[in-house]
Amino acid sequence: MIFGRIKPLDAIMETAEKKALHRTLGPIQLMLFGVGCIIGTGIFVLTAAGAQKAGPGLMLAFVIAGAVCIVAALCYAEIAAMIPVAGSAYTYSYATMGEFLAWTVGWALILEYAIAASAVSVGWSGYFTGTILNEFLGLHLPAWLSAGPVVLGGAPGGFINLPALVIALLVTWLLMIGTNESAKVNTVLVVIKVTALTAFIALTLPQVEMQRFNPFLPAGMFGGFGTGVGAVGAAATIFFAYVGFDAVSTAAEETRNPQRNVPIGLIGSLLFCTVFYILVAAGAIGTIGGQPIMGPGGVPFPAGSEELARQCALPQYSEALVCSNEALAHVLRQIGFSQIGNLLGIAAFVALPSVILVLLFAQTRIFFVMARDGLLPEGLAKVHPKWKTPYVVTAITGIVVALGAAFFPVGQLADIANAGTLYAFAMVAIAVMLLRRTDPGRKRHFRVPMLWLVGPSAIGGCVFLFLNLPSAAMLMLPVWAVLGFLVYWLYGYRTSHLGRGHVEVHEVEIEDLAPQTPGVDP
Ligand code: ALA
Repeated sequence: MIFGRIKPLDAIMETAEKKALHRTLGPIQLMLFGVGCIIGTGIFVLTAAGAQKAGPGLMLAFVIAGAVCIVAALCYAEIAAMIPVAGSAYTYSYATMGEFLAWTVGWALILEYAIAASAVSVGWSGYFTGTILNEFLGLHLPAWLSAGPVVLGGAPGGFINLPALVIALLVTWLLMIGTNESAKVNTVLVVIKVTALTAFIALTLPQVEMQRFNPFLPAGMFGGFGTGVGAVGAAATIFFAYVGFDAVSTAAEETRNPQRNVPIGLIGSLLFCTVFYILVAAGAIGTIGGQPIMGPGGVPFPAGSEELARQCALPQYSEALVCSNEALAHVLRQIGFSQIGNLLGIAAFVALPSVILVLLFAQTRIFFVMARDGLLPEGLAKVHPKWKTPYVVTAITGIVVALGAAFFPVGQLADIANAGTLYAFAMVAIAVMLLRRTDPGRKRHFRVPMLWLVGPSAIGGCVFLFLNLPSAAMLMLPVWAVLGFLVYWLYGYRTSHLGRGHVEVHEVEIEDLAPQTPGVDP
C-alpha cells in the first residue's frame, strides 16, 4: 500500500547526523539569507500585474499574502529544525505521509522552483532590455526577440524572450560547474536591493497624492472565482514576491540555537519584506496611479493577456504602471528621477540572477534526492567527477527553465509557480500537525506556538489563495498532478528503493556536493 511506504524518520536523521555541519548561523545571517531569496521579480516586476488586478488594493494584497506566508513559515520552522535534511517539504512528507504524497509534494515543488526560476528570468529580462539596452546602450531589441508569443500572452509581435533564455542558461552553467554564492556576495546583493527599494520609497512617498488611491478597490475585494482579480486575486499573484523564505528553513541545521534563531530569521525576513513591499506599493500607486485597465463589464483585463497587451500598445496607456515591464524604474522615471530609476534598474539587473540561482539550486537538489530515493531515474543523480555537482539533472532542469522563460509571460509563470508552492506549504503544515500526534516525544528545536491555530490557518490560507488564482493557473495543479501520478505509477512506484525494502545510505551524500546552499557559508 503506497500510503504505508513511510520513510523511517530515524533513517533520515541518521543521514543528517552524519553531516555534522557546524552551527554557525545567527539570526542576522539567517535574515540576510532570507531577504536575499525573497526580494526579486515579485516586487520589481509583478507590482504592475498586481496593480492591474487590484488597483490601489495591491497594498492590501501584500498584507494578505504576507500573513499567509508568516503562518506557513512557522510550520516550516518547526519541521525544518526537527528534520534538518535536504529535500525540504518532499523529505518531510516522506517521513510523515508516505511515499505517494511525498511524490506529489516533490512534483509540486517542480512548479515552485523551476517555474519560479523561469518567472524571475523573465523579470530580469524586462530590466535588462529596458534599462541596460534601451537607456544605457540606446539599443532596441526587436519585439520578436524580447517577449514570448502573443498566443501565450506575450507582447504583440513577440516570439521569443531571448534575454530570459540566455540568463537562465547562464545561471544553469554556473551551477553546473559548481559556482557558489558566498554569504558575502549575498550580503552585498541584499544591500543593493534594499538600498534600491529604500531610495524608491524615500523619493516616491513625499510625492504621493491621496486621490490616486481612489477608488481603492476598483475590481472589488473578491473579483470572482477563477478571474484572478480583486484584492485577493492580486494577493494570490503577489504571493510570489514572498516565495523563497522556505529556503531559510533549509539552513536550520546550520543555525545556532535554532529554537530562537530560525523563527527570528524566517519571520524577521518576512516581516521586513512585507513592510517594504507595502511602502513600495504605496509609493508607486500614490505617485503615478495604478488603476487597472478595464475590459468589458468593468472587469480588469487579465494581466499578461493578449487583450491587455493590445491596450498597452495604445498611446494613452504608454505610461501606465500596469503596462510596464520594469515597474519600479518606470515610476521613478515618470516622477522626474530618471537617473535614479536607471540605477534601480541596474540593481535589479545585478541582483535578480542570484534569485534564479537559489531557485534552480533548490530544484536540482530536490530532484537529486528524489532520484536517490529511486523515484526518478538514478542517472539524473550522477555527480560530475570534477565539478562535484549533479550536472545531468542541473542541465535538464536549466533547459526546461530556459524554455519556460523564453516563451511565457512573467505573470502566468508566477501564478503557476504559486499554485505548486501553495500545495507544498499546505502539506508542510499538515506534516507538522501529524508529527505532533504520531511522534510527540521527538526533540523539537523549535515548536510552533498554538499549532492547532497556526497549522489550520496556514492550510486555510493556502487553499484560500489557491482558489483566488486565475482559473488557468488553478487548473495547472490537477493537470500536473495527473501527469505526476502517471509518472509515479509507471516508474517510481516500481523503482522506489523504499518499495524494494532498502532504506539506504548512499555513497555520495548530498552534503558532499558542491556548491552548498548558495548565500550561506558552511
Ligand atoms: N520571491 C522571489 C521573487 O520575487 C521568488 O523573485
